[in-house]
Order: sequence, then C-alpha cells, then structure tokens
Amino acid sequence: MHWRNLRYVCLLFTLLAMGSQMEAKVTESVFGKTPDGTAVDVYTLQDGAITARIMSYGARVLSLETPDRNGKVADIVLGYDTLAPYLHDSTYFGSVPGRYANRIANAEFTLDGKQYHLIKNDGQNSLHGGSHGFATKVWKGRIVPHGVEFTLVSPDGDSGYPGTLTAHVRYTLEHNALKIEYSATTDKDTVVNLTNHSYFNLSGEGSGNILGELLTVNADRYTPIDAGLIPTGQLAPVAGTPFDFRKATAIGARINDDNEQLHLAHGYDQNFVLNGKPGTLSEAARVVDPNSGRVLVVKTTQPGLQFYTGNFLFGVKGKNGHVYQRHGGFALETQHFPDSPNQPKFPSTELKPGQTYHEATVFEFQVER
Ligand code: GLA
Repeated sequence: MHWRNLRYVCLLFTLLAMGSQMEAKVTESVFGKTPDGTAVDVYTLQDGAITARIMSYGARVLSLETPDRNGKVADIVLGYDTLAPYLHDSTYFGSVPGRYANRIANAEFTLDGKQYHLIKNDGQNSLHGGSHGFATKVWKGRIVPHGVEFTLVSPDGDSGYPGTLTAHVRYTLEHNALKIEYSATTDKDTVVNLTNHSYFNLSGEGSGNILGELLTVNADRYTPIDAGLIPTGQLAPVAGTPFDFRKATAIGARINDDNEQLHLAHGYDQNFVLNGKPGTLSEAARVVDPNSGRVLVVKTTQPGLQFYTGNFLFGVKGKNGHVYQRHGGFALETQHFPDSPNQPKFPSTELKPGQTYHEATVFEFQVER
C-alpha cells in the first residue's frame, strides 16, 4: 500500500476510535436473584474515566466511579457489594423510590373527592411509596444509546395508589454526566413523584463524613417541617438561617446550630424550593470537595430538592468492608415537594390519563485544582 493511503487508513482508525470513545460503553450481566428466583441485572456504563453500575432492583445506582484532581478514580456513592443487603435495606441507597418519593402525611390523600390509604412505614406517614415501593421492585431494563432504560408497570391499587402507572427511568452517561430521565403515564387520575436517592461522598464511599464538603443550593426558600418531617406548608426564606446555601458553605458549618429544624431532622432533611423554572433544566446545587477536588453539579427540571445528610445511618455495613456512620453521605433528591397531594399550595403532583409525566436530573462531574 502506498504510504499516503496508509495515512488515510490510520486517520480513519483514529476517527473510529474517537467515535467509540464518545459513546458510553454499556454492558449487561447478572447481579443476583431475588428470593422468588427473579434475576436482577446490572448494567455497566463506561465513558472515559467515569463508570456507573446500575441494577434493575429498585433501578438503583450501585457504584459511580469518577476521577479526582489527580485522575485517581474512586466510587463516590454509598451502597452494598451484593444484592442480599439491598433486599432488607432501609436507606434507599441509589434507588428510585416511588410511586411517591418522600413523605405523605398520615399515609392518605384525597383525589377527585375519593380518599386513598397508603402503607404507613414511617410512623403515621408513608415514606417513598411505602414498604413495597418502587425501590423494592425488579424493573425491566434494556440497553439504549449511552445507557439503560428501566420500565416498571405498577398496577391499579399498588400500595394504595390509584391507576396503572407505567414508569420509565433512563440513565445515560455522556459528557462527564449521568443523566436521569423519568417519564410515566397512567390510566386513572393518580399522583407521582420520582427521584434518585443516591448518597454521595465525594472523597469516596466509606472515607468518613461529608461535613467538610462545600454545598451551594440555588434556593431562596425551603419548606420547614414538623416533628413527623412533614412540611408545615410554609415556604420560608433561607436568609439568616442554616438553610442559606446560596453561597458555597461547608455542609457541617451550621449542622449543630441550635435550630429547631435541624433538631427535628437530626441534621438536614428538608426540601428546598428551587429558584430555577420548573420544567427547564437548571442548576440546583453544587458540591465541591476540597479534599479530592471532585465537584458534583446537580441540574434538574424539578421544583424541589431534598437535602439529606444521612442522619439515620448508624453503622450500616457497606461496600468494601466500610461501615457507614451518621453523615457518611449526603443525598440531593430532586423532586416535587413532600406531601404535595395534601398541600394545595404546592406544585401539583397529579397525573391524568393522556398526560405524560416527564422530569430530568443531571449529575455532572468536574474537578477543581
Ligand atoms: C429520605 C428522607 C429521610 C430518610 C431517607 C431514608 O431522604 O427524607 O428522612 O427517611 O429518605 O432513610
């Protein structure tokens, strides 16, 4: 072959290699089996130095490896090594809770004049759809470009919720970001609220607490809670409170302040009213870890963001022999506000036949020198 032709062949191979680098590599394997013998699959999404593993049980993010400022990769989400502990898990590690993420007061709500009773799994309240919610279901996965899409059909009356709800959660890894797109349709009027419940520790899971990580939240207001962690209905200004994260502040800087809201939740466990326009993808939060240089940017179309500092983690036996303690991770759960079905002034979470619920959240990974 003439050397000039060889040059073109080399160029072609380089372009092909670049092309394949631009598309995340997605592989599928078996993670385990539920007690009734249902196979649980794990999908590995790899794009450059970032690798995400996501399983069909609870549509959960199992691991998320990202580089630090020196290019050293670590897994930055809490979780377990095997399926068994997920089957008895109360932390919601990495999951997509549903049909209604977060709390519904007294586990009941009224829709079209009819009262619906849900499962009480948090005192008198229903949390994350109840004890048999979406985080405990085996979703059906299929590989899509750059990722995986999970589907769950929740029958009419499932855990007390009306209507057959068909939900899809699509995870894609592209441009140093994990994108999560949620969609759902129903055959009867119902309510829906989906989120992702990953616990992050930007220094790496099991590396201690997250109190030194710097948080910014794009919210002027938050929804204060009562003793049952149910919003009082108020949209209170963050100004002058430990909830003012409009400028980057260490998560632990005010967590032990003598503040009623922090006492009620044993740390942060409140919903922020995001300043972004609902329905438009905009920056909700940013976390910078001075230690590793990792930066997490959260963008969403959702109106709210639950900031939770792992207040109920007490010696959870996690991955790689690590034991997770209180504040060993934080969750930034993009969502509609808690208890919206009972709070007429909150943005509506109703979904009617013919409508499609659609929300998106992006977790973007950067490094700071
Ligand atoms: C959510 C809630 C918390 C807690 C966790 C799960 O983040 O807001 O109060 O229940 O889920 O432990």
